[in-house]
Amino acid sequence: TTEARATIGLTGLATMGRNLARNIARNGFTVAVHNRTAAKTTALLDEFGDEGDFVGSESLEDFVASIQRPRAIIIMVKAGDATDAVIDDLLPLLDEGDIVVDGGNAHYEDTRRREKALAEKDVHFVGMGVSGGEVGALEGPSIMVGGSEHAYETLGPVVEKIAAQVDGTPCATHVGPDGAGHFVKMVHNGIEYADMQLIAESYDLLRNVLGLDPAEIARVFEDWNSGDLESFLIEMTADVLAHVDAESGKPFVDVVADEAEQKGTGRWTVQTGLELGVPITGIAEATFARSLSGHVDQREAARSMFAEDPEETPADAIGDRDAFVEQVRLALYASKIVAYAQGFDMIRTGAEQFDWDIDLGSMATIWRGGCIIRARFLDRIREAFADEPDLTTLMTNGFFADALHEGVDAWRHVVATAARTGVPVPAFGSSLSYFDGLRRDRLPASLIQGLRDNFGAHTYRRTDKDGVFHTLWAGDR
Ligand code: ATR
Repeated sequence: TTEARATIGLTGLATMGRNLARNIARNGFTVAVHNRTAAKTTALLDEFGDEGDFVGSESLEDFVASIQRPRAIIIMVKAGDATDAVIDDLLPLLDEGDIVVDGGNAHYEDTRRREKALAEKDVHFVGMGVSGGEVGALEGPSIMVGGSEHAYETLGPVVEKIAAQVDGTPCATHVGPDGAGHFVKMVHNGIEYADMQLIAESYDLLRNVLGLDPAEIARVFEDWNSGDLESFLIEMTADVLAHVDAESGKPFVDVVADEAEQKGTGRWTVQTGLELGVPITGIAEATFARSLSGHVDQREAARSMFAEDPEETPADAIGDRDAFVEQVRLALYASKIVAYAQGFDMIRTGAEQFDWDIDLGSMATIWRGGCIIRARFLDRIREAFADEPDLTTLMTNGFFADALHEGVDAWRHVVATAARTGVPVPAFGSSLSYFDGLRRDRLPASLIQGLRDNFGAHTYRRTDKDGVFHTLWAGDR
């Protein structure tokens, strides 16, 4: 019989799974490894077996038997049907109290369903969001764990050890019950969409309004990376813009087809935002901007019909060039505050809806390292929630409020300039509208209510007295 000596097991040894298993072994844990096709298990042991203590098994039975009880087994397979298939194969081999962890990019509703089904069999199911791509998986990702407190007692020590560490704090935490971890991972990816779109719009403005070339813009981003905007994505933007295509000798960014692809977590975030009624406009615009870029036929048709430039030349519109660079930076920062305010609003609303007690400050804490959106900015968000745990919107906390006050004129100027010169800025523009929408004294929503009452007798409330009212419009008879 197989000796149960592994601390934890991992099945699914494609890129992410293999790297996560190596990370676990490198951190001194004995890890049982398994893959449907045994060749991947053998390859892992051949190539990296000396990095730590692996226990490889060909059969699922031997794999399960090689893990200490209560067993913790991480599944790293393609999200969807494969996850259900592996769970079904595993279940008959498990004992009460064992823990099944889905480390894939599952939809949080699937995680809620699986958690419920496994709880009936006294097996703990954990939906674990892992961010940071293949490098993160190997060197230290950001890990968002959902599921029971009890499951986290077993899983926590491993997960916190293999995660990225910032100032001695692991970028991993127990987010909340059932789907909470995958929900937060989803919103994280949505924020990543918004962040990237804002960077892309900044580049477009610097290139097409100011006329800077990619190498010059790379230097602007490098400079920005030494200030408040310091982040992995800004740093990487400088790298990508400075990169020259070896084959053509042209700037790399000019030889890449301008059609952005997506795997679906942005879409999930937007769909969920609509269901929960949270205005995550920055994430939505970022997701739609990717879709628009792929509509090649419509772009071709519109380009041939409306190619002529707007009457206003960039030179008339911008004034001082260095000042405009700084205005774009301020607009980027202000829009980024909005994107994160919306993302955290979504996490708070999801937590209320599904009865997860999520600590928002902890989410900022575990995103400071390991993941794609890691940034100096997240430390500020952590501090904001530490100062004001009941903060209704990030926009009003001292540091961010100051940044919005400081940046608002530049933000307006940049969005206006973009409109006048024909550069699309869906994320900058919608973020500014969100800000203006929240700060306005009166919104035209009163007119919407009037229209609804007129055509559909949907009733309205008044500003001057309590109650629900309906007006007898001329058309009512
Ligand atoms: P990547 O894109 O990183 O290569 P993926 O496609 O998300 O990975 O996941 C592939 C992994 O899921 C593989 O380990 C695969 O096993 P095989 O190597 O045997 O193909 C695993 N996988 C997919 N469907 C599975 C299923 N129904 N049962 C078990 N494992 C499955």
